Amino acid sequence: MNTSDCLELLHSRQSHNKLVAPAPTKEQLSNMFKAALRAPDHALLKPWRFRVFEGKSLDRLGELFVKASLEENSELSEAKLEKIKNKPHRAPMVIIASAVLKEHPKVPHVEQILSTGASVQNLLMAAHFQGIGAMWRTGGLAFNHCLMDLLGLDQDEVIVGFVYLGKEEGDKRKLKPTPHEEHIFYITE
Ligand SMILES: Cc1cc2nc3c(=O)[nH]c(=O)nc-3n(C[C@H](O)[C@H](O)[C@H](O)COP(=O)(O)O)c2cc1C
Repeated sequence: MNTSDCLELLHSRQSHNKLVAPAPTKEQLSNMFKAALRAPDHALLKPWRFRVFEGKSLDRLGELFVKASLEENSELSEAKLEKIKNKPHRAPMVIIASAVLKEHPKVPHVEQILSTGASVQNLLMAAHFQGIGAMWRTGGLAFNHCLMDLLGLDQDEVIVGFVYLGKEEGDKRKLKPTPHEEHIFYITE
């Protein structure tokens, strides 16, 4: 693959919210984690954690979503609970990316979360390079402490995202170019 092919891949990543089977294979997943674990990481703290859900464990994740949501609001309607239960089934694989935050004199927590965000981005790019569709989501459940406990997160661990992965179904959205002049400033003096 030449440089322009690589750049074309970098320039064309986009999220897809309709994801169906098959889930990434073991080999594809391994390539994605290899990329994720190459994220920049101040002081080499390696804050990144990835929990992979596929098949039956997606049902289990749905149950945990329901339990955690009820803990926050015990009056949720049956319809709402059903929707929450089915959330993990929006794709054949869901990866929960989290950061284990350490106290470090030179690396504030925000940098450890940024590093984990970079690892998720590397994972998304490696998915895209292999033709796998993906969507990074958070929502209230990412910040729900009951869910964190149910998932067995450490005391100082935070969820950075739910990454949905699978085969893209339906057409891709047409990418609109983002005007560079609104975001990029060349400081020359
Ligand atoms: C930390 C983070 C959390 C996100 N959470 C959600 C979410 O909960 N729901 C959603 O629809 N999009 C969410 N997004 C945005 C999508 O992943 C996606 O980037 C956005 O729809 C733009 O599409 P694009 O990636 O194709 O440019 C989140 C993005 C980030 C970086």
